[in-house]
Amino acid sequence: MSYNPSAIRSHLDTLILGRRIEFYPQVGSTNDLAKEEARKGAPEGLLIVTDEQMAGRGRLGRVWVAPPGRCVLCSLLLRPRFGIGHAFYLTVATSLAIYRATRGLFEEAGEKPPVSIKWPNDVLIRGRKVAGILSESEYGAGGWEFAVIGFGINANLTAAQLGELRPTATSLSEELGHEVDRAKLLARVLSELESLYISLQNGQFGPVHEQWVVALETPGRRVSVNEPSGTVTGQALRVDPDGALVLRLDSGEERRILAGDVGAV
Ligand code: BTN
Repeated sequence: MSYNPSAIRSHLDTLILGRRIEFYPQVGSTNDLAKEEARKGAPEGLLIVTDEQMAGRGRLGRVWVAPPGRCVLCSLLLRPRFGIGHAFYLTVATSLAIYRATRGLFEEAGEKPPVSIKWPNDVLIRGRKVAGILSESEYGAGGWEFAVIGFGINANLTAAQLGELRPTATSLSEELGHEVDRAKLLARVLSELESLYISLQNGQFGPVHEQWVVALETPGRRVSVNEPSGTVTGQALRVDPDGALVLRLDSGEERRILAGDVGAV
């Protein structure tokens, strides 16, 4: 299955996202390239795609490693018009887009989609991570300069390639029982993301929040969260419109968490 700009374009029905595609066999990090292009004035919707990253980055300062030619690894340049207070919604929309595209693959196979989102934006299949998102923005005195949304989807990793991550990570091919067409999958994610992004640009945060909440598996669970300041444990009650995860700690105190990593307890 070809994975290049013309293959991606052949499935694309968007007006903004991915209208310009730059494809590299190997890069450091697609987020870094997208930021460089953004600073040079590249248009909104620019998509940087690669088959291999030598310095892929994850959330919370982690590395993101993927074997060549098996995953969707890309970054999108956006130039939002809404207030930077809603920046969080870019990752919400991206996780929802990947969630929907992934559900579509199961629906096509006639299967009930075992897909969910773990707060804040990891996409899971049967509780194991299949995709992650790294959003990086630059701001000036007047607000946004630009936002770069990078995402990695474990498309066609074998069990052996998942290796020691297997207890917590999975791939689409492992879960579906067949390889997926990365060009078609990426085009589908962009199409879902474009409609959500247009809603955000029109200030419609409430409906996007509602859809995110339905997809989230975290509220209702007992969880521990690794915050920058340490680990807290409690019952996940809800997510607020600003994206905060609200926990009832064992002490009875309610704690709003804005960033961290959720684990089951
Ligand atoms: C995470 O779950 O920690 C986020 C992972 C984000 C990985 C993607 S791969 C494409 C883009 N370029 C990067 O360096 N990181 C993101």
